Amino acid sequence: MALHDRWVQERKHEHYYKLAKKLNYRSRASFKLMQIDDRFGIFREGDSVVDLGASPGGWLQVAKNRVGDEGKVVGVDLRHIRPLEGVTTIIGDITEDSTMIKLLEAVGGKADVVLSDMAPNIGGSYSTDHARSVELCMYAVDVCDRILKKGGKMVVKVFMGDMMDSLIKELESRFASVKVHSPAASRDTSSEMYIISKGFLALKNVELKDLTEDEKKPEFVSKGGNI
Ligand SMILES: C[S@@+](CC[C@H](N)C(=O)[O-])C[C@H]1O[C@@H](n2cnc3c(N)ncnc32)[C@H](O)[C@@H]1O
Repeated sequence: MALHDRWVQERKHEHYYKLAKKLNYRSRASFKLMQIDDRFGIFREGDSVVDLGASPGGWLQVAKNRVGDEGKVVGVDLRHIRPLEGVTTIIGDITEDSTMIKLLEAVGGKADVVLSDMAPNIGGSYSTDHARSVELCMYAVDVCDRILKKGGKMVVKVFMGDMMDSLIKELESRFASVKVHSPAASRDTSSEMYIISKGFLALKNVELKDLTEDEKKPEFVSKGGNI
């Protein structure tokens, strides 16, 4: 990375870090979700929201603020999430059926919005990190098939790479509109992008019991990372 790019990245990182501290947000990532919502209109008051990869809780804070007291927010993560008023949290791996069952119970019906800021542990080659990120996105898509209302919305983070096209095709088969976006609060040189999908078609309507052994995805290797 060029020296100037790194300098810009560090200033931006520091800016949002300080702002998050000042405004009592748990992560810099809060600003990414606020910017996405301001631009794409994700939340409405009273919405029911599922947040995958929710720790430490920056997105949960934003979602709760925006859906208000009548709204419902449920967060899932491998890691502990400090309690947050009016928000339900589940500690678990979303790639496991037991976590999916807990999530379905906590939501108690269908959700209006599914969010995923899930990220694999970074460390392999870039192409491995990208593949793991796409795999996490597919688990988030799986959650949509089970829990998202017809007409619902999804915001998912992905590390860019050559599997993007097939991920986008999967999303386009399920949503009326799919857009790729990089919010200003994402680092300039970051390879992360957010995919904003609206108008869920609910064509599959999968129940957990419908998941046969053949359909189950292979054991998942990427277990979380806070980036
Ligand atoms: C970038 S952080 C999320 C930050 C969060 N959006 C916020 O604003 O505070 C990514 C999270 O994804 C979680 N994660 C990764 N794989 C997961 C999985 N299989 N199930 C649940 N959470 C997972 C990690 O534990 C990590 O906390």
